[in-house]
Amino acid sequence: MATHTAASTSSDPPLKVKPPQAVYTPWRLAVYDIWVLGIVSTWAWGCPISQYLIPLFRSNVGKNHLDIGAGTGYYLRKAHIPPSAQLTIVDNEEAALSVAIARSNRPDARGIVTDILQPLPATEKFDSVSMYYLLHCLPVPVAVKCRVFSHLKKDMTADGVIHGANVLGCGVRKDNWFAAFIRRGCLKHGVFHNREDNAYEFERALRENFHQVETWVVGSIFIFRAARPIDN
Ligand SMILES: C[S@@+](CC[C@H](N)C(=O)[O-])C[C@H]1O[C@@H](n2cnc3c(N)ncnc32)[C@H](O)[C@@H]1O
Repeated sequence: MATHTAASTSSDPPLKVKPPQAVYTPWRLAVYDIWVLGIVSTWAWGCPISQYLIPLFRSNVGKNHLDIGAGTGYYLRKAHIPPSAQLTIVDNEEAALSVAIARSNRPDARGIVTDILQPLPATEKFDSVSMYYLLHCLPVPVAVKCRVFSHLKKDMTADGVIHGANVLGCGVRKDNWFAAFIRRGCLKHGVFHNREDNAYEFERALRENFHQVETWVVGSIFIFRAARPIDN
C-alpha cells in the first residue's frame, strides 16, 4: 500500500504517516470487518451495525468531518461522505491511520496521529465528529474517558454534532454465551477496558457538555448523538 501524507491541521506542515504494517493485511482487515463489525456486533452485542450505526453515521456527517479511532476505515467507506466535505481522521496508531485513509476512498483525507485522551492539536473547528467502538478500548477509568467530550467540544462549531457507539461493561443485559466468551477474551487480552463503563456516566458527561443529547442502549451498545457544545 502507498504511503500517505497527513497534515495535523490545514495550516501546519505535513506529517508523514508510515505505510501500514504487515499486521494490516487485506485478509486481516476483511476478517475484522466481517467478524467484529458483522458477527460479534450482531450476535454478541445485539446491535447490527447496518441497522443502527451506519445510518446514524451517514445522517450526521457535516462539511468538515472528524473521525476518531478509524480502525479499518469501514465506516468511512460506508458513510457516503460527500466529496465536497473535508475529512480528517485521528488515531493513535500511524499504521491504522494509514489504512483508514487508504480504505476511505478519500486520498485527500487528512490524518492526525494523537492520543484522544489529550486535547486535539487542531486549530480548526469541525461541524461533525464520529467515534465508533473507541471508548471501550481506552485503558482508563470511565470518568477519564468522559473527559474526551469536554476536550472535543472545543474543536467543534457552535452547531456541531458528535456521534458514536461503544460496548458497555455494566448496567446492560446479561451476556449470552457468545458475548460472555468474546468479552472474557477481550478483557483478558487488553482489547477492552470497559468493566465499569455504563450508560449513566456517558450520558451525564454528554449532558454536561452539549445542549442537545440523545442516547440509546441497543443490546450491550451505548449509542449517542449530541449537538451544540455548551460554552464554558
Ligand atoms: C476498535 S477500533 C474501532 C475502529 C472503527 N471506528 C470501527 O468502529 O470499526 C479502535 C480504534 O481506535 C484507535 N485508538 C485506540 N486508542 C486510541 C487513543 N487513545 N487515541 C486515538 N485513537 C485510539 C485504535 O488504534 C483503533 O484504530
